[in-house]
Amino acid sequence: MGQAMIGDSLNFKVKPLTPYFGAEISGVTINCDLTDELFAEIFSTWVDFGGLILLKDQMLTTKQHIEFSRYFGPLFGDPNHEPLQNTVSRYMHPNHSQIYRVSNLVDKAGDPLGRKGAGTYWHSDVSFRERPAQASILHAKQVPNCGGDTIFANQASSYDLLSSGMKKTLEDIFAWHDFSIAARTQYADKIVVERDMHGDNQALHPVVRTHLNSGKKSLFVNPGFTSHLDGFTYDESSVILKFLYDHCTKPEFIYRHTWKKGDLLIWDNRVLMHYAIMDYPDDQGRYMERCTVIGEKPF
Ligand SMILES: [Fe+2]
Repeated sequence: MGQAMIGDSLNFKVKPLTPYFGAEISGVTINCDLTDELFAEIFSTWVDFGGLILLKDQMLTTKQHIEFSRYFGPLFGDPNHEPLQNTVSRYMHPNHSQIYRVSNLVDKAGDPLGRKGAGTYWHSDVSFRERPAQASILHAKQVPNCGGDTIFANQASSYDLLSSGMKKTLEDIFAWHDFSIAARTQYADKIVVERDMHGDNQALHPVVRTHLNSGKKSLFVNPGFTSHLDGFTYDESSVILKFLYDHCTKPEFIYRHTWKKGDLLIWDNRVLMHYAIMDYPDDQGRYMERCTVIGEKPF
């Protein structure tokens, strides 16, 4: 049933967040303790616990956040690496091209300090690129008194519990992922950069992918960016995808995270979908910074 192994490392304690996936690591202060050895333990715990790790009370500077995130791999926006799509360039940190800001705050001129209501739909970050995101590493710097939770769905456990017939049916099917799906429904027309709607922001990926580190299979389709199954009509696709989305988002595959200031949450977009709940009022400030690691081409 996808039960993670419980085991403290030499350097930290581990507490599962759900029976299926996710763990809180305690006893680590990233900006003081980080070494290659510690990172290797954090990474293997992350993989063992299904790609979701919480570290509380991390008072990282933006630079330290970037340095830690690079242990996972190159970041979108790193020198000599591709940036995120142009449409979100207005939300990137002005001094750090790797930092995507999620916020409802505005500066003195009334310009946004981040994307308000980012990701209020089920998605896997950047799945529309040939090399989608591996880890997303989100650091909460200001949170509302109540609300603004993020929910995660484990697409490895949901794959495991499909019938053998459905697993066989999905084996050789590929799906198109396309930023324009979210752009049309989630972004105001005036901010969508037209060239994002073509070319590099469309990709064909297997519906079932194999995790590079764990070897486990998981579903890799999401309502936010998946447009249709390759070789199927849109009507045919939508029936199959709706079944998969309903299945993946059953309560037993879900973890709901209530943010506290200082939380550093690391999720694996290769096995998890997430949904940011936009239920807090504007007078409740929320400010978060995200690094996004460039992953491998799904296989
Ligand atoms: Fe996201």
